[in-house]
Amino acid sequence: YKSDNQQHLKILVPGGIGYIGSHCVIELVKVGYEPILVDNGCNSSLECLSRVEQIVGKKLIHYEIDILDVNQLERIFTEHTIFAILHLAALKSVGESIQKPLLYYRNNCMEKFGVKNFLFSSSATVYGSPQYLPLDEKHPCVGDQITNPYGKSKYVAEHILKDASIAHKDWNIVILRYFNPVGAHESGKIGEDPVGTPNNLMPYVAQVAVGRLPHVNVMGTDYDTPDGTGVRDYIHVVDLAIGHVAAMNKFKENCGLKIYNLGTGHGYSVLEMIKALEKASGRNIAFKNCPRRPGDLASVYADPQLAAKELNWTAKRGLDEMCMYKCLSIGFDEFHTRLWYNHCGLVG
Ligand code: NAD
Ligand code: WQD
Repeated sequence: YKSDNQQHLKILVPGGIGYIGSHCVIELVKVGYEPILVDNGCNSSLECLSRVEQIVGKKLIHYEIDILDVNQLERIFTEHTIFAILHLAALKSVGESIQKPLLYYRNNCMEKFGVKNFLFSSSATVYGSPQYLPLDEKHPCVGDQITNPYGKSKYVAEHILKDASIAHKDWNIVILRYFNPVGAHESGKIGEDPVGTPNNLMPYVAQVAVGRLPHVNVMGTDYDTPDGTGVRDYIHVVDLAIGHVAAMNKFKENCGLKIYNLGTGHGYSVLEMIKALEKASGRNIAFKNCPRRPGDLASVYADPQLAAKELNWTAKRGLDEMCMYKCLSIGFDEFHTRLWYNHCGLVG
């Protein structure tokens, strides 16, 4: 795999028809990789696969299996020569992880099969409560401080991967710590579509914009932030996906163990997010001030400089694009949003 030609290099993508996975698959195909999707559909549907196929203009190889089914997985490895694993399959509901903790540890710890390049989707949650901001990769990760099993499963998985890299000096392991992925592909065909009432801010606000929910609950207005509401580093999911492609290049350099933040470096408050989605949707979005959500932090945002330096990657899409494509993906009138988009002078 030392060749510069990545044509035909096969990337196994567990979780490939999920929210982040589907966007990664599109970017991988764009630059010539051949993704092999593995997804049991526990939080996604085959409709998403068919839309991704429409976007990339070809059929994709997909195995509808559980990654914990070792026999089935082995079959894939015998049928294909895999260059790298881009491991995105996981359960991601913080609330559910508190109810069913063992499910989360089991599902996040995948066996390896002689493939030496492994990318793991981790989360800024591993930093716990920030000792300083912006968060760089040297910021300590204090496992005891992580308040939910979801976050702890990421922390534990990172440690397993660190041990693996010590034991196997020839393995390349890239750990990406995502901040808050939002938005959708510019086609509007795919995006985040949580089952039931959303837990995360952006999908919740979007559902208020389309009238599916009556108002946003602003959870906490007394944080030590400019407007008192929580501040996060929201990153466009397409930028995030392109970050994964950049990480694939790292494997070709035999990089060993590497850890990168994927964030923009900018924080936006809950109220700023509501305003931005109002602008993108052209609707008023009602909200009510509520008490803080237990376990929430005031401000979390990344120092993304290491990824800029070593992956040659930075997030390019701003808040307006995150909101615009979110609106498109949940069925807002394309004409209205495109018009607004052009009006803002953005290149679409
Ligand atoms: P998602 O639920 O949309 O995608 C995960 C996919 O994995 C789903 O399609 C699901 O069906 C599949 N899956 C789960 N368990 C499986 C199993 N045992 N076998 C086969 N397939 C399985 O979630 P996402 O937002 O795309 O997240 C992808 C990764 O990124 C996860 O590891 C998640 O923890 C991590 N992450 C997400 C966020 C976020 O805010 N979305 C933030 C930080 C990290
Ligand atoms: C953002 C801000 C809330 C909902 C979580 C996980 C993390 C990662 C992403 C991955 C906060 C406020 C929210 C609402 C609100 N997960 N809020 N009303 O908490 O940064 O991160 O999702 O898979 O691991 O912990 O994101 O979108 O839930 O919240 O006021 O209805 O919006 O208090 O300040 P968070 P979020």
